[in-house]
Amino acid sequence: MNDRLVALAAAAQRELETAVAPEAVEQLRVKYLGKKGELAAILGGMGKLPPDERRALGEKANAVKAELETKISAAITRVQELALEQELKGPRLDVTLPGRGHALGRRHPVSQTLEDICGVFSRLGFVVEHGPEIELDWYNFEALNVPADHPARDMQDTFYVDGGSLHAGFAHTNPVVLRTHTSPVQIRTMLAQKPPVRAVMPGRVYRKDSDQTHTPMFHQVEGLLVDQKVTFAELKGTLDAFAKAFFGAKSKTRFRPSFFPFTEPSAEVDVSCVFCGGKGCRVCKQTGWIEVLGSGMVHPNVFRHAGYDPAEVTGFAFGMGVERLAMLRYGIDDLRTMFENDYRFVAQF
Ligand code: PHE
Repeated sequence: MNDRLVALAAAAQRELETAVAPEAVEQLRVKYLGKKGELAAILGGMGKLPPDERRALGEKANAVKAELETKISAAITRVQELALEQELKGPRLDVTLPGRGHALGRRHPVSQTLEDICGVFSRLGFVVEHGPEIELDWYNFEALNVPADHPARDMQDTFYVDGGSLHAGFAHTNPVVLRTHTSPVQIRTMLAQKPPVRAVMPGRVYRKDSDQTHTPMFHQVEGLLVDQKVTFAELKGTLDAFAKAFFGAKSKTRFRPSFFPFTEPSAEVDVSCVFCGGKGCRVCKQTGWIEVLGSGMVHPNVFRHAGYDPAEVTGFAFGMGVERLAMLRYGIDDLRTMFENDYRFVAQF
């Protein structure tokens, strides 16, 4: 038995020396010192020995066990250091690789244009107001002097929202719509304050419409100025100043008579073609002008609905399509590309 102990110690020593992985050392520990290991097997046979031999062998076995434990922990330290060394030496981390860049995000051309428009008007003293996109029919149409049988209320143009649960007992007399323009914010702004008013109202609007030049959702910026003795000349001056600030100092404006139920008189505003400077080209269909917005003097009925006295105040209003202005400014020819969310498109602006 003594010989077996000596042989065991020698074999364990040899095997430990050749182990290179931490798992291999652990396996050796189990093999020699484990509960069912070789040392345990030898000690298991000790019961049959006479007492004095048993004691001597027990001492020897304890000595071997202690020696192996020391050697195993030394082996663990050695293989761990080896592993670390390999890792430090190895080509795993190439510090010469270029770093991973962080691409800067950018704002969508519609957002940029929206901010630029509001920026011009805020320098002219206008404040920014907001209203809801889900709107009561009364604000979107009725208060704006759009009669019940007006074609703008046609199911073809407007998204009607099932408002039954939103406004119980009220919805059928006052249907809920996705606002078709930002003009209802004129009413909300006037109801919330006394004149004078000088505000722009940006936001999303919705129409049941979809082709190369129409998307069911688009953006508008509304403008409203109300005070005593406001004239059409001030409307022209303000919008001409806007056109020059937005499209460039050489831009000219042209006002054409038009019709909107909420303004009287009404005018459509053209700006000199940003592509040919007014000489005539394909984009302006050889006219030299491009239509950019609708405008007019606030209709007395609108003032009445908003609680203002039309004998006391006058004012002007206008509304412009943000996508249209963005397309003119950046030379984009298909409106739908604006909403496809292709980063390659957005990254160009
Ligand atoms: N709300 C009109 C539209 O969407 C534009 C407009 C606004 C016209 C204000 C006149 C005054 O077409």
